[in-house]
Amino acid sequence: MTDALFGFGLGMRRPHYASFTAGDAAVDFFEVISENFMGVGGRPIDTLMRARGHYPLALHGVSLSVGSADGLNRDYLDVLKVLVDRIEPAVVSDHLCWTGIGGFNSHDLLPVPLTEEALDTVCRGIDQAQTHLGRQMLFENPSTYIAFPGTIPEWEFLHAMVRRTGCGLLLDVNNVHVSATNHGLDPQAWLNGLPLDAVGQIHLAGHSQGEHGLIDTHDAAIDPQVWALYAETIRRTGPVPTMIERDGNIPDLDELIDELGQARTLAALAEVVA
Ligand SMILES: [Fe+2]
Repeated sequence: MTDALFGFGLGMRRPHYASFTAGDAAVDFFEVISENFMGVGGRPIDTLMRARGHYPLALHGVSLSVGSADGLNRDYLDVLKVLVDRIEPAVVSDHLCWTGIGGFNSHDLLPVPLTEEALDTVCRGIDQAQTHLGRQMLFENPSTYIAFPGTIPEWEFLHAMVRRTGCGLLLDVNNVHVSATNHGLDPQAWLNGLPLDAVGQIHLAGHSQGEHGLIDTHDAAIDPQVWALYAETIRRTGPVPTMIERDGNIPDLDELIDELGQARTLAALAEVVA
């Protein structure tokens, strides 16, 4: 059964596996990185199945590479479909990015030049993936560190992508803050431009200050400015399943649950205001 996603969740990371598989984690859903469980059996898939027995699941990919001019890898899609059919996630997502070329996977979420030509490529890839899986997918706005001259704003690109493919948006609020700040733009204005009616899930995460700008490191607590942007987001979208991604300096689960409580509080306040 595919349970719907709702409420507030966390990315399931290795130090916390036992709590998730026992159903002890105080979350409404959990998310895992698809590639960590694709084409594998044994203990990893058993861990995922046991956690899935307790919570709805969001399956979040990092290697679909819809921005690649090479087109999608059919073998990758086949293996992803096997996992999706077996685990029945509520959400399947990936990123607006490309990750490799000529069969080489960089394991980096590389920025797409936001041109009409790239939009055609991305939409072709999303159409292929959604058709292959037989379901809608969500695509995440990236953190970006460079801008290409002569390109359209990311929010316009995302509007067109959503309209043309019927995909949803996985809105990473921290990525909006990081990208807007790095490009010298107002995060609130960036948010205003996005297709907020297409948001199916929200990511929150921490970032760090690099030499040349903010870096989406997922290794720190969520910044107060990102919390403020989240409050504004949820006020405008209404309730949207929201989760925290933490991939470095991973604290005790209780600390992340406490941090998730902040999202619950802000969402409740937004409902009162609305
Ligand atoms: Fe994210």
